[in-house]
Amino acid sequence: MVNVLTKADDYKRWRDDKFANALTELDDYKVEIRDPFKLSQAEKDKIHTLCLCANFVIFKIQPHDSYESAVISINTQLGLTNLDAHLFVKNQGLTHITQSTDKNQREFIPYTNKNLAWHTDGYYNPIEQRIRAFSLFCVRPALTGGVNEWIDPQMVYLLLREDNPDIAKALTHPRAMCIPEHKIYEKVRRVASVGPIFFIDNLSRTLSMRYTQRKKNISFLDSTETKQAVKHLDALLNTQTHYHFKHLLRTGEGLLCNNVVHKRSAFNDDKDSPRLLLRGRYFNRIN
Ligand SMILES: [Fe+2]
Repeated sequence: MVNVLTKADDYKRWRDDKFANALTELDDYKVEIRDPFKLSQAEKDKIHTLCLCANFVIFKIQPHDSYESAVISINTQLGLTNLDAHLFVKNQGLTHITQSTDKNQREFIPYTNKNLAWHTDGYYNPIEQRIRAFSLFCVRPALTGGVNEWIDPQMVYLLLREDNPDIAKALTHPRAMCIPEHKIYEKVRRVASVGPIFFIDNLSRTLSMRYTQRKKNISFLDSTETKQAVKHLDALLNTQTHYHFKHLLRTGEGLLCNNVVHKRSAFNDDKDSPRLLLRGRYFNRIN
């Protein structure tokens, strides 16, 4: 799919395939996993096929003593081995997404009970640390809220381009979105990240997306086309199409995806059993 951005015929073929294979009921994307330590060929095939069509699946496993080991095992069997071991990763490589009491960690919205706006994971990362897949697994849901919504980024691109090719094109500009460097006490913790919103990923050769809807500390290319295009993108994300999905993950359920664009609603915890999700981020894709 290298040429879908530039070659009209390649784009049309890909678009027709994508629409023909798109399923619009969430139940069609659910996979029950019998044994997380030994996926059957049928389970693997189903996950791969669904990820090829829409870049995600919802999986479910039976109650287990060590959800961390189970999730790592599933991901590994699907080829997700290139784990992003970032700042808050725990011992097995998964991050605990829960309300944190740590002052430094609470500066990052995922570790609070606030809502998260539409984004792809690692949108601020340099190319060599691009997040291509992630899993989000529920150990305990919140008392109320904490609902996830997502849409396949390839479908977002397609819907925008079908509506107006100029909008889609503006979002592929190599300087469309910039996240300035992050400094703490004059020390650069993360260099500036400048790049397109939609692009062909150099490693997987697939159409991918980097985006965040938060507007603080983000700048867009100073052109009317880009600004208009971002408005259209936000409007599309904020509506409901047949390709938007919404789900409250329950204990034992997880979302596995090729970094779909997603959001989370605010939540309230039962203080004795706070919401806990395990997140794994990977530099490679589910293929
Ligand atoms: Fe995220």
